[in-house]
Amino acid sequence: MNSQFSRDAIRKTCQLAPIVPVLVVHDVAHARPLAQALVDGGLPALEVTLRTPAALEVIAEMAAVPGAVVGAGTVLTAEDIRAVQAAGAQFAVSPGATDALLTACETVQMPLLPGAASASEAMVLLERGYDVLKLFPAEAAGGVTMLKSLGGPLPQVSFCPTGGVNPTNAPDYLKLDNVICAGGSWVAPQDAMEAGDWKRIEKLACDASGIGS
Ligand code: 3PG
Repeated sequence: MNSQFSRDAIRKTCQLAPIVPVLVVHDVAHARPLAQALVDGGLPALEVTLRTPAALEVIAEMAAVPGAVVGAGTVLTAEDIRAVQAAGAQFAVSPGATDALLTACETVQMPLLPGAASASEAMVLLERGYDVLKLFPAEAAGGVTMLKSLGGPLPQVSFCPTGGVNPTNAPDYLKLDNVICAGGSWVAPQDAMEAGDWKRIEKLACDASGIGS
């Protein structure tokens, strides 16, 4: 069962800003300036996806940036949970949920934002104590219309839609009562990272941090 500590922690993390950047970082040297730009732009909660060989080191580096609340994304297995906790991740995000993954998070008290893409998936997670869920893949699963529909029977669930969210549709998501924040990769474009254009990323973060207010 998900603990009250983990439940409170993931809710608080999701309340830090309207957008959680979804980060794919290939170069460890980018970790600190990237985290700094995002924090300076007003986005302190960061999801570092485990999609590059550098990801665990990136998490460790970003965790040293004051104000950054660094989590791991694309977490799929119990081994991933142990590795990201050792690297210093404060929360984890998964595209879906398995019993093994949930048990691993509960064993080590790792706050988890688990993915769900249907009412049944949300209900299974709710039964186990998870009431803040990632709707993934948000746009493909049904987007704003789907979330409105889920809000009727499942008003106690808060969602972080992720996957296809962009600056144009983000305001519509964030207007919904059952949306706590949204995830998106657009605030950290690969070309800006490669060019070391941290000012551009800070500006994108600043714009994103104002969405919905
Ligand atoms: C992902 O899987 O990379 C996330 O869902 C982010 O999706 P996005 O690139 O559409 O923001």
